[in-house]
This record gives sequence, C-alpha cells and structure tokens, in this order.
Amino acid sequence: MNLLVTGGAGFIGANFVRYWNAEHPGDGVTVLDALTYAGNRANLDGVTHDFVHGDIGDTALVEGLLADRGIDTIVHFAAESHVDRSIHGPDAFIETNVLGTHSLLKAARTVWLAGNGRPHRFHHVSTDEVYGSLGPDDPAFNETTPYAPNSPYSASKAASDHLVRAYHHTYGLAVTTSNCSNNYGPYQFPEKLIPLFLINALHGRPLPIYGDGMQVRDWLHVDDHCRGISAVLANGKVGETYNIGGGAELPNLTVIDTLCAAADAAFTADRGLAARFPDAPAANGAPTASLKTTVADRPGHDRRYAIDERRARDELGYAPQRTFAQGFAATLDWYLSNEGWWRGVLDGSYRDWVATNYAGR
Ligand code: NAD
Ligand code: DAU
Repeated sequence: MNLLVTGGAGFIGANFVRYWNAEHPGDGVTVLDALTYAGNRANLDGVTHDFVHGDIGDTALVEGLLADRGIDTIVHFAAESHVDRSIHGPDAFIETNVLGTHSLLKAARTVWLAGNGRPHRFHHVSTDEVYGSLGPDDPAFNETTPYAPNSPYSASKAASDHLVRAYHHTYGLAVTTSNCSNNYGPYQFPEKLIPLFLINALHGRPLPIYGDGMQVRDWLHVDDHCRGISAVLANGKVGETYNIGGGAELPNLTVIDTLCAAADAAFTADRGLAARFPDAPAANGAPTASLKTTVADRPGHDRRYAIDERRARDELGYAPQRTFAQGFAATLDWYLSNEGWWRGVLDGSYRDWVATNYAGR
C-alpha cells in the first residue's frame, strides 16, 4: 500500500505511522500535516516516512500528492481535536474538520475516480462524540445510533462524517469511517485530561476537575485504536462505519484517582523523581490527590460515552489488547521517561494559549 496520512504529526496520527512502519515496513507513507500547535515533527523521530508540510484544505497540493506519488490509501486524522478549544474558538474547527475534509474528498474524487478509476480507499478517522451524550442506563453507542453532537468539535466531526458518506453514495468513492472513544498514550498533547493532569501533578499545579467529575468516558490505549483502524483497512466493507472502543468505561474521578495513586507510587519507587520534580506533592511526602480542585463545568459537557464495538469484533476480528491498568502504567512510564518531549511542547504556543484562556481557573 502507498499511504497518505493526514495529521500524521499529531498524537494518534504519529502513533499510527509508527504502528504501520512496524507492521508493514515495505509500504510507502507520506505524512501531510500543517503543524498546528498540536503537530510536532519530533513525534515522528526515527520513523521512515516522507513529510509534506501543508494543509488538507489545499486541494491542488493534495491532488498533486495523490497523482505524483501513486497514493492508493488516505488515512485521514488531520483535525482540530480539543473540545475546550472548540468552545472558545469554533471557526478553526469548521475550517479544518468540515471544509478541510471536503477539500480532501474533492481531491480524492478528482484523482482516483478519473477515467475508469483506480483501486483506492479513503479512511476517515472520527469520534464517538458525534452520537452525543448517554444517560447512566442507556445502551452503548452502536453504528446505527442517531447523530446528536453537542459541541462545535463534535458537530464539525459529524459534518465531516456525513460528507464522507455522501461522497461514497453520490460519486462512488471507496470510503470507510471509524468512530473511536477517548484515546490515551505516548505523544498526546498535554491539553487532554491524562497528560495535562500528569504534568500538572509533577509540577505541583492544581488538577482542574470540571463539575462533579462523574462524567464517564470509554478509555482506549492509542495502540489499540491503531490496530482497529488497521483492521478496517484490511477487512472493512466499503461504505461502512465501525465503532472502536476499549470497553473501559470509567468516571473521570476514577481516572484521576488512579493517576494520583500511580504518581505517589512512582515517587516512592524512584527516589530520583523527587530531585527532578521538587514541586510535586509526592516529592514532599504529600499525596498527589491534594492537588484535586473542582472548577466550573465545561459548557454543554457530555455526561457519558460508551462504545458497543461488537461489529468491529465480529466482522474485523478487532479486540483491544490492553486493559486500562496496563495502558495507563505504560503511559505514565512514557511521560516520565520522555520529559524532553513534553517540555518542548510546553515551551511552544500552548503555554500562551493556557495563560489567555484559563487565567484565574
Ligand atoms: P491532534 O490534535 O493531536 O493532532 C491533529 C493533527 O492534525 C496535528 O498534527 C495537526 O498539526 C494536524 N492538522 C490540523 N489541522 C490541519 C490541516 N488543516 N491540515 C493538515 N494537518 C492539520 O489530534 P488527535 O488526538 O491525534 O486526533 C486525530 C484524529 O482522531 C482527529 O480527527 C480526531 O477527531 C480523532 N479522534 C481523536 C480521539 C482522541 O481521543 N484523541 C478519539 C477519537 C477520534
Ligand atoms: O471521545 C473521543 C474524544 O475524546 C475525541 O474525539 C476528542 O478529540 C478527545 O479530545 C476526547 O474528548 P474529551 O472531551 O472526552 O477529552 P478530554 O481529555 O478533553 O476530557 C476528558 C474528560 O475529562 C471530559 O469529561 C472533560 C474532563 N476534563 C478535561 C480536562 C482537559 C476535566 O475534568 N478537566 C480538564 O482539565
């Protein structure tokens, strides 16, 4: 296969390129990434790929890449991905997630369906947030759950899902879509719950819990998401969608308490951590949980997500391989061993953005 991976310098995209390199070393991989605040070339260090710095909204650029490089598969990760940012500034989400995805579809149609057409696949990476929010006893989201997005982020992803579907039904583009639950793991930008709280804990900064902290998410290690996408590419039916999840439904407070206990244990096991992170409570004999702070709830905050991944299990042979306990322990180790990576990220634009948007929280 000859892949174009959009957003390949972001969290999941970079993990996917690493995964694909290991599983399919003979395949070509071109990464197209605009290197927004969330994109980082360092995420791809040591990985074989061609890198193109550009925007998915540049239709002519994408047409050129598809034609000149003989690309047969697009795996489309590029997006604005953070719900809080979409609340503060929705425009970028419409621009990239809706218009950018449409531009990519137009380029794929022009190049792949010209003349008699040629074998191809457009795989769209989407989210479970398009289905909206569940009550405590509602059944988990499946592929026929009606769309009910509640944030500008999820609405923009829902719009992109519909465009992908329409390009299949109207023009015959060979598409698949996967809707996945909350990912965590290496290279996740420290604006999302787990890396933000880990890094705050190491610096003795408050852990800002939105509302009552009892919102439920279905946590999946990013490697399992990559395996799910790979299974869709190999065995998914064109025109279909697949839900990918971890079966690890947890309230935020449980995730946060797990994180606090794991940080305390890590400082006890490794005395060197106290010297590296002297402001952490655990360096001074106090529990990390002392940093827990309740703040105002996220506007429109979805209460619960849960994924019914039976279709992916039955039709694709997909099953997550890591429990949350295993995946979380590996993730904590990665962040403790890769301080240079997250310090580099924090030295960039993110720090300014937090100062502007979260002053006083
Ligand atoms: P991320 O924010 O870490 O990375 C996004 C990447 O896209 C960055 O490298 C960025 O530079 C790039 N990008 C943004 N705008 C671009 C543009 N116009 N042109 C080219 N590149 C652009 O996101 P992530 O968490 O890795 O998510 C990747 C995809 O997976 C997104 O589509 C997201 O909606 C979806 N998803 C994420 C999760 C999750 O838990 N993080 C779960 C389900 C689905
Ligand atoms: O469900 C899949 C989605 O998961 C993806 O589509 C999104 O791209 C991804 O960002 C994620 O969305 P969430 O909003 O669920 O993730 P986030 O890490 O921002 O928040 C997880 C939960 O933790 C959520 O209930 C909000 C809460 N939270 C988050 C932050 C950043 C807090 O309580 N405090 C915080 O500071």
